[in-house]
Amino acid sequence: MADYLGAIDQGTTSTRFMVFDRRGRVVARAQREHRQIHPQAGWVEHDPEEIWQCTQRVCSDALRQAQLRAADLAAVGITNQRETTLVWERRSGQPLANAIVWQDTRVSSEVSRVAAEGKADLVRYRTGLPLSTYFSSLKLRWLLDNIPGLRERAQDGEALFGTVDAFLLWRLTGGPNGGLHATDVTNASRTQLLNLETLSWDDGLLEFFGIPRAMLPQVRSSSEYYGEVAQGALQGVVIAGVLGDQQAALVGQACFRPGEAKNTYGTGCFLLMNIGGRPVASQHGLLTTVAYRFSRQPAVYALEGSVAVAGALVQWLRDKLGIIGASSEIEALARTVEDNGGVYFVPAFSGLYAPYWNSGARGLIAGLTAYANKAHLARAVLEATAFQTREVVEAMEKDSGVRLQSLRVDGGMVLNHLLMQFQADILGRPVVRPAMLETTALGAAYAAGLATGFFSDMDELRQNGAVDHTWVPQLDPAQREEKYRLWKKAVARSLDWID
Ligand SMILES: Nc1ncnc2c1ncn2[C@@H]1O[C@H](COP(=O)(O)OP(=O)(O)OP(=O)(O)O)[C@@H](O)[C@H]1O
Ligand SMILES: [Mg+2]
Repeated sequence: MADYLGAIDQGTTSTRFMVFDRRGRVVARAQREHRQIHPQAGWVEHDPEEIWQCTQRVCSDALRQAQLRAADLAAVGITNQRETTLVWERRSGQPLANAIVWQDTRVSSEVSRVAAEGKADLVRYRTGLPLSTYFSSLKLRWLLDNIPGLRERAQDGEALFGTVDAFLLWRLTGGPNGGLHATDVTNASRTQLLNLETLSWDDGLLEFFGIPRAMLPQVRSSSEYYGEVAQGALQGVVIAGVLGDQQAALVGQACFRPGEAKNTYGTGCFLLMNIGGRPVASQHGLLTTVAYRFSRQPAVYALEGSVAVAGALVQWLRDKLGIIGASSEIEALARTVEDNGGVYFVPAFSGLYAPYWNSGARGLIAGLTAYANKAHLARAVLEATAFQTREVVEAMEKDSGVRLQSLRVDGGMVLNHLLMQFQADILGRPVVRPAMLETTALGAAYAAGLATGFFSDMDELRQNGAVDHTWVPQLDPAQREEKYRLWKKAVARSLDWID
């Protein structure tokens, strides 16, 4: 009897495999980091083979450690970093380039060029997404323009495109030997090639971006029978759920009703609110995106505020400045001072996403005096995430007309009490952390479990969401607004740094 569900969570910095029981509790887990490849300033790549190897390793490690077999899994779900763009060869299965990661800004001059052609509104209207370096469309066009012969092979159906979910799904289901070339609607909605109303590839957009249709995966729902794993540790297990990581976290937090929202603090920070069955356009710098589609039910949409750099800035402090030895050390360092000492850090490493969508913004540290030390910098790093979240919350409330009574959070950074307290302070709202923080993997497992009848319905999932901790605002409102004002001033100076 298969009592468990598995989830592959292929993230920006690492890959996890997790096994859950019927109550959504973790019974096995393994995780491996992969390399961040920076060939030039602004470029970020991953090696697809490395991602594939990490995926296989974490699956076998987790099962072995918990003494489970593939047959103990009723189904498996896949969730993944979104927008990251891969091309590979159908016949050999070989990647034709490194994956271009969502954070990569190599197409920033293209963004301005395309905008100058006056097509930005049309693209936004059809896809729910502004022109940006963030999405797959211009990354894929860059690959087609820069890899000799790729466009011809793509037209012949010999070169395939996919986001990470599609690449893993294809490899897991057999690769060159009958692998399924498909993606789910949530991932497809991040390519900027999907029509948000019809939920199919949009011919006008394909033509506009110069993308051959023959290289695109089929678009499927997020929760349905995809196929069986052909070989390896999961051989024979049914793949029955696929969701982009942020949408998976929304599902993992059981945000199934319109107005329900969550904010995930990982590499970046992503606030998504369920808006129900209609793709309402944002007026305040948010994205409209597919939240999930379960089997043949209608799709559910979300408004999203995407922040490119959150935990990544903590890693930058660790890896590029060496001020801390591990991400978790930032809290103790930041606590050695009482406040930020006037220092503000705008981490516009990939431009600024929501609500600015300014591809030419670059990072800056403002307000430095001889008084400032590394602890003030550590504070400024943590505060940057909280300020960016407030900007997104304000946009979300204006767009949706829903006032968030409290903010539901998850992701690796929410272990940081100082940050969570500051988040409550700067929002003036309570911040609520569930007991279960691995909501991304859990959401993929939920999708797989719903498709296979492991779970009877969504109400069963709602019951798993116990609260672990709540932070309430303590900061004086006048101080809160003064800090926020200075943050905005720093942001204004970071915009359009690249001309
Ligand atoms: N105690 C901490 N304080 C601040 N930041 C932390 C802390 N612990 C982890 N982080 C940051 O959280 C991030 C990891 O969180 P999480 O594992 O949710 O990331 P992730 O987004 O799932 O990664 P990926 O993007 O690979 O999916 C890292 O960027 C790390 O620097
Ligand atoms: Mg993640």
